[in-house]
Amino acid sequence: MPTLTQRLLERLTPAFDALEPGADPVLRGSDRADYQVNGVMPLAKRLGRNPREVAEDIVAGIDVGGLVAAVEIAGPGFLNITLTDEALLEQLDAMASDEVLGIPAATTEEVCVVDYSAPNVAKEMHVGHLRSTVIGDSLCRTLEVLGHIVVRRNHVGDWGTPFGMLIEHLIDQGEEEAVAGLSVGDLNGFYSEARTKFDADESFQDRSRARVVSLQGGDAETLRLWRILVAESVRYFDAVYTDLGVLLTPQDVVGESSYNPMLEAVVDDLDAAGLVEDSGGAACVFPPGFTNREGDPLPLIIRKSDEGFGYAATDLAAVRNRVDILGATRILYVVGAPQAQHFEMVFAVARMAGWLPEGIEAVHVAFGNVLGPDRKMFKTRAGGTVKLQDLLAEGIDRAADALAGRNHDPETLDLVARQVAMGAIKFADLSTDRARDYVFDWDRMLAFEGATGPYLQYAHARIRSIFRKLDVDHVPTSGALRLDHPAERALARHLVALPDAIESMMESYSPSKLCTYLYDLAQHFTGFYESCSVLNAPDEATRASRLELCELTASTLRLGLDLLGIEAPERM
Ligand code: ARG
Repeated sequence: MPTLTQRLLERLTPAFDALEPGADPVLRGSDRADYQVNGVMPLAKRLGRNPREVAEDIVAGIDVGGLVAAVEIAGPGFLNITLTDEALLEQLDAMASDEVLGIPAATTEEVCVVDYSAPNVAKEMHVGHLRSTVIGDSLCRTLEVLGHIVVRRNHVGDWGTPFGMLIEHLIDQGEEEAVAGLSVGDLNGFYSEARTKFDADESFQDRSRARVVSLQGGDAETLRLWRILVAESVRYFDAVYTDLGVLLTPQDVVGESSYNPMLEAVVDDLDAAGLVEDSGGAACVFPPGFTNREGDPLPLIIRKSDEGFGYAATDLAAVRNRVDILGATRILYVVGAPQAQHFEMVFAVARMAGWLPEGIEAVHVAFGNVLGPDRKMFKTRAGGTVKLQDLLAEGIDRAADALAGRNHDPETLDLVARQVAMGAIKFADLSTDRARDYVFDWDRMLAFEGATGPYLQYAHARIRSIFRKLDVDHVPTSGALRLDHPAERALARHLVALPDAIESMMESYSPSKLCTYLYDLAQHFTGFYESCSVLNAPDEATRASRLELCELTASTLRLGLDLLGIEAPERM
C-alpha cells in the first residue's frame, strides 16, 4: 500500500519533470500545512529563472484531483500543500485494516546482517554494550517489519591473549568454584582476580603465556577449559538479554573465535592481491587516505609480528563470511564511536580486496557514551564497570516505587514495573541522537511526563482504559471516521505519517526519529482528547469515529514502541 507521501510525490513528479527531468521536489512534512515542497528554489536556480514563476508553473502542472485540497506559494518559492480530508480518511481506513499500519514493504528484500551487543567473555558488559544491544535490537525489529531477512550476529570477544591468564586462573581456582562465581554473573570479580595475579606473579605470567600458545595450538584440554569460560559468560549475557527483552539468543552468538579457520585465507588472499606490506614483521595493508597524526600512512594490521591475528583480521574474515556465505547485501555494525576508524579501515581494505562489491552496504552505526550524573563516563562509585543485571534490577525497583498506589495487584505490579523499567531505559537511550553522549538519569527516564518511555506507555494505557470502560476490546473499523474538529484532523495527519517516520529512522539508522514521532503522536492525542470528548460525544456517529481514532492511536503507539523493543502494558 503506497503511503500518502508516495501518492503525493507521484502527483508532483510530472510537474517537476516537465521543467527538468528528474528534478527532486524535496517533499517534507510541515506544521504549517500538511506538506512543504522545498525543491522549487534550487530548480529555479538551476534553470536561471525567477523562483515564483517556476512555482506558478509547478502549481499549474500538479494534478490535484482527490488528493490535494490546496497548494499555496509561500515566501520566495516554497509550496505549502494541504491534503483533502477524503485522502486522509482513505489512508486511515487502509492503515486500520493493515497489520503493520501501512508501513510499506521495502522495494527489494535484502539480507541484512546486524552485528550488535558483542560483549567480551569473562568481562562484565558495560553500558556501551547496553547501548549497542538496545539500538541494534530496534534496527533488527524495524528491518524485519520492512520485509527484510535479518541475521543477528553477536560478535562476542572470545579470543585473544587474555585467555591465557583467564584459563590459568580457572585452573588455580578449581573448575567448580570458578563456575559457581561465573554462573552468578561475577565476571568482573573473576577477571580482576586473574589480572591482579598476572601483574604480581611472574610464574603466573609465564604459565599464562604458555597457555595462550596451547590455546592457539588447539590443545584439547585447554580448549575444554576455554569453553567453560565462554559458556558461563554467554549464559550470563543471555540472562541480561532476557531481562531486557531483546531478541538476541545464544544461537546468534558467533564469536571472534568462529572466524579462526578463515584467518590464514584472509592474509593469503590479501597477499595474492598484492595488498600486503611488511612492517616490522607484521603483515599490514595501507588503505589510501588514512594517516596518523604525523601524516604517515596508517596500517591496518592483519597479522602481528608474533604471528598472531588480531581484531582487524577477524573483522575482515567476518565480512567475507557475511557477504559470501550469508548473502548479506547490508551489514550494520552497532559499535561505539571510538571504533569509527577501525571500521572505516576494515571496509576500505575489504573493498580493495573485492570482498565488499559495489552495491553492498557496510555501515558503522556508531553511538556516543553513557555518562554519569557528573557527566563523566558512567561507572560505579569505586570507578568500576556497573554490573548490568544490578542496574536493571534497580530500574525495576524504582519503577515499582513510581507505580505504587496505582492499584495493581502484586503480580501485575511486578510485570508492569519490569515493562516500565525496560521501557524507560531503552527510550532514554534510543531517543537521544545516537551519535551523542547522554546522561544516565533514573529520575528523568522514569518520569511520567516529557519524552520518556513511561509517558508513552501511559498514553497507550490511558487509551486502553477508555475501551475497558466500554467493556470492549477493540472497535471494529467501520469506515465511520470523520474529521470534523481541527484536533481530530491534526491527529489523523500525524497518524498517517508513521511510514515517513520509519523511513527517516532507517535513512540514518537513528531510532530517535521514531521516538520523536511517537512523542508527538502522544501530544496530538492529548490535544484531541482534551478538545473532543469521546465517551460523551454529541452523537453516536461522532463517538464511533472518535473511538476509531483512539484505536488507531493505540495501535500506532503499540507498534512504534514494539519497534523500539518496548512493551506497551494494558494498564499502568
Ligand atoms: N567486543 C567488542 C567490544 O567490546 C565489540 C565488537 C564489535 N563488533 C565487531 N565486529 N568488531 O568493544
